[in-house]
Amino acid sequence: MPTPVVLDCDPGHDDAIAIMLAAGDPAIDLRAITTVAGNQTLDKVTLNARRVCTIAGITDVPIAAGCARPLVRPLRIADDVHGSTGLDGPSFSDPTVGLSDLHAVELMRSVMPATIVATGALTNVALFLSRYGADGIGEIVLMGGSTERGNITPAAEANIYVDPEAAEIVFSSGVPVTMCGLNVTHQALVTPDVLGRLEVLGELGRTCAELMTFFAKTYRELFGFDAPPLHDPVAVARVIDPSLVRCVDAHVAIETAGTHTRGATVVDLDGYLGLEPNAQVAVELDVPRFWDRVIAAIGNVSGIRAD
Ligand code: BDR
Ligand code: CA
Repeated sequence: MPTPVVLDCDPGHDDAIAIMLAAGDPAIDLRAITTVAGNQTLDKVTLNARRVCTIAGITDVPIAAGCARPLVRPLRIADDVHGSTGLDGPSFSDPTVGLSDLHAVELMRSVMPATIVATGALTNVALFLSRYGADGIGEIVLMGGSTERGNITPAAEANIYVDPEAAEIVFSSGVPVTMCGLNVTHQALVTPDVLGRLEVLGELGRTCAELMTFFAKTYRELFGFDAPPLHDPVAVARVIDPSLVRCVDAHVAIETAGTHTRGATVVDLDGYLGLEPNAQVAVELDVPRFWDRVIAAIGNVSGIRAD
C-alpha cells in the first residue's frame, strides 16, 4: 500500500522536484501540499507550489498556505539561493491549479493519518503539534540540519535556522522523526549525467533542467560546488523506500540560544550525553537508486516513461 503523505514545503528549486517525486512515485499517496515561508515569502512559495503542480499536471492534490513567519523570529528568506521569485530560471505561465481556503494546519488535519514530509522551516508542523498533538501523524521525515557544518551559518542549516523554536518542538514531540541533513543531501548532486536524463523527459523535463541549471549557478557562485545538491527529494526518498537512505538512531538537540550557533543540530552520534535517541539520522544515500527513482517519477508525472 502506498504511504499517505502530506508534503510541507517552501518551493524552492529542490522542493519543486520533491513535489514531483512525491506525486509521481507509486510508493506514495500524496494527500496534500502545504506551504510555509522560508526560501521566499509565503505568497511567493505558495504561488510556486501551484506553478509546479500546474506544469506537472498534478491537479488532484489540494494545496494550502500556512505560516507567513517563524514562531518567534523575523523571517529570513534565501533569495540568494533561489532568486527573487523563489523559483528563478524558467518562465511560468499563470497557474491553473487552485488554492484551498483552509490553513495548512487544517488541511493537514483533514487528510490524517499521514506521514509528514517537511522540506522547509518547521513552523507549520510545530503549529500542528501544538494544536492537535501527535494525533494522526505516523512519522515526520524532514530535510534539515546536519551532522556536520551548516549552509547559512557555519553551524546551521537553513531550514532549522529559519525557525529553531519550531524545530525544537518537533524534535522533542515524541513523534518518530527522521532527519535528512546536509551530510547526506550533499550526496544528491545534479551531475551533467542527471541533467541529461532530465532533458529528455519532454517539456516538464526541460523545465526541471532549467531549474537545475539556475540552482547549479547559485551553488557554484555561493558555495563553490561543481554540481548542486538536491536536498529536499532525499526526505521523500526515505519514505518511498527506507533502504535508499540509511539512518542511525541518535539524540538531536536544537540550539535556540547560542550566540554563534542558532539553529545548529547537535547530533550525538557517539552517545556522549547518554540521552535516549529522539530521531533517526540519515547518514548515507544510495545515489544511483535515488536518481533512478527521481527520474522515473518525473517521467511518470510528465507521461513520458524514463528508460
Ligand atoms: C534547504 O534550504 C532550502 O534552501 C532548500 O529548499 C532546502 O530545503 C537546504 O538547506
Ligand atoms: Ca525547501
